[in-house]
Amino acid sequence: MKILIIGSGGREHALAWKLAQSPRVEKIYCAPGNPNIREAECIDTDNLEELADFAAVHQIDLTVVGPEAPLCEGIVDLFKDRELPIFGPDSKAALLEGSKNFAKEFMLRHGIPTASYTCCHNRKDALREVQRYPLPVVIKADGLAAGKGVSVATTAAEAEEAVNACFSGEFGSAGETVVVEECLIGEEASIIALTDGRSIIPLVSSQDHKRAGENDTGPNTGGMGAYSPAPVVNSGIWNRVEKEIIQPFLMGCQEEHFDYRGIIYAGVMITENGPKVLEFNVRFGDPETQAILPRLKSDLSEAMQAAVEQRLHEISLEWDNRHAVCVVLAADGYPGKYQKGEVIKGLEKAENAGALIFHAGTGKDSQGQVISNGGRVLGITALGETLPEAIEKAYTAVNAVDWPGAYFRRDIARRGCDQ
Ligand code: AMP
Ligand code: GLY
Repeated sequence: MKILIIGSGGREHALAWKLAQSPRVEKIYCAPGNPNIREAECIDTDNLEELADFAAVHQIDLTVVGPEAPLCEGIVDLFKDRELPIFGPDSKAALLEGSKNFAKEFMLRHGIPTASYTCCHNRKDALREVQRYPLPVVIKADGLAAGKGVSVATTAAEAEEAVNACFSGEFGSAGETVVVEECLIGEEASIIALTDGRSIIPLVSSQDHKRAGENDTGPNTGGMGAYSPAPVVNSGIWNRVEKEIIQPFLMGCQEEHFDYRGIIYAGVMITENGPKVLEFNVRFGDPETQAILPRLKSDLSEAMQAAVEQRLHEISLEWDNRHAVCVVLAADGYPGKYQKGEVIKGLEKAENAGALIFHAGTGKDSQGQVISNGGRVLGITALGETLPEAIEKAYTAVNAVDWPGAYFRRDIARRGCDQ
């Protein structure tokens, strides 16, 4: 079969890497892709109509959407209208990620545990609401804000600043509505599942590292590393997640007639009172995917195709019991200002150290050398019989990379060793 992957980051490289292992898959395209994703041919467009034309002309058997933006813009609706098979929720269901308020109302309707909240449509109401909540208080711009629209304010002044930032247009139209939310305390985990709207198959658990600095300090990022499984999701918690989050989610999709054939990702806080949903994403996590897919033994193309054809009940997934750790190498300065175009060497050595190298923000220079071309640049994943072994293998590979401009956290997955 021929597959088209939409996106260009480390998540999309991991998807291409995994899908390429299937004997059913003869060709993979990636749009816009990255020249270092060697499993795929790059297609230079992100225009939805052009992508649909491409899929029609090249008789693509399955289009897999990586990032949220095209899902929220309606790529699935467009492909379905043209009878092109595509993996992902339609734009209505994608609002679960595209609108925090929509997601909160969905959770309330279907009894999914989450933080208490108030939705505010103007600055005055939001400033009044933040005072009603104990500190710290969470302020969220309602729409997609590239991961930047959430503030956990520890003082009244910070809360006011966060509200003002939303209504000043910093996040564009995403800030016109603001969700003020109770701050949940606990440890976070990522629960990612495959669904066809009729049945749902959870993937293995994982944990991201959102903050830029070690010991979870500094600004929020897209994710500085991940590991799987996440020991915080022990069997007791897992049972509660299935019963209190996954099953009600599926019932909710059915009751609301969502056409949901893709991935649902619940960012969960494991609180004293059990798991509560912080947010829904309607696509694979990045970098969680780079830690999850290396553990998947089954054929991903079969599972995705079954989801699209609504026969997911025929599928069961087999997993490698080993631990996976993915360390993200970012450009120094990320998530603030950083350099691009720096030559990266030593990738072969890193691979020979037993790691998988996923390209996120890289490019090639005129001599064919790999160069940095973004904030999060590489994801380096290793598997180990134990979590400490996986950590050691991943960092041995990281240290083999010759790129003086790299920044990475040295404590990825360390917390998992204490549990
Ligand atoms: P979101 O985009 O909603 O996942 O928020 C990004 C990050 O903000 C989450 O991964 C959490 O670390 C934090 N966060 C969001 N909502 C809350 C909350 N209600 N309580 C505590 N932390 C939160
Ligand atoms: N790793 C966080 C996300 O994919 O949103």
